[in-house]
Amino acid sequence: MKNIVILISGRGSNMEAIVQACAQEKWGARIAAIVSNKATAAGLAFAAQHGIDTAVVDHKQFDSREAFDAELARVIDGFQPDLVVLAGFMRILTEGFVRHYEGRLLNIHPSLLPAFPGLHTHERAIEAGCKLAGATVHLVTPELDHGPIVIQAAVPVLPSDTGESLSARVLRQEHLIYPRAVRWFVEDQLTVSNGRVQHQAGAPQVVWAAD
Ligand code: GAR
Repeated sequence: MKNIVILISGRGSNMEAIVQACAQEKWGARIAAIVSNKATAAGLAFAAQHGIDTAVVDHKQFDSREAFDAELARVIDGFQPDLVVLAGFMRILTEGFVRHYEGRLLNIHPSLLPAFPGLHTHERAIEAGCKLAGATVHLVTPELDHGPIVIQAAVPVLPSDTGESLSARVLRQEHLIYPRAVRWFVEDQLTVSNGRVQHQAGAPQVVWAAD
């Protein structure tokens, strides 16, 4: 049974999708803990209601990123994770933290990486006149929103879109691809070579969503 620790900062809808898929699809894994850098993160209540351990490491209590990341890693390691999942965890992580979890740290980012790393991805995609937008699940490397891509979902950008409407369209696909990617990881179905991730049985690593 593999241990998954999920890190959140807020709403936690991707975390919920992973928790639910893990239970419904009976993965050979358990959600060992949900850890947040904000005590007010809405996702903590969902986790507690589902009997999942929760922890808060408030970044505001630390003088430096290094000190925060060291305590965060200490708390995470207490749950003996095989995989650490960043699900809307809105902190920039130090190289030391990322190296500590190298190869077992996943992130979801709401753009078709390598386009639009950072914040306000949907507004920037609309502003740039993109006809496609989407989300990417990737293994985390020290560079922000960067690293070997596990799966991407693409959605159209409509002429009437606002950041909000595009965000909602992308989020529906995030809830599909993130549980899928986490399941592949815990079932050892992924191979990484030369910075590229392949599903060993050839499962499609792209989702095209018309709406
Ligand atoms: C998601 O859209 C996720 O892709 C994004 O934050 C949102 C969290 O929502 N993550 C990033 O922007 C990371 N760079 P959630 O808390 O409901 O899962």
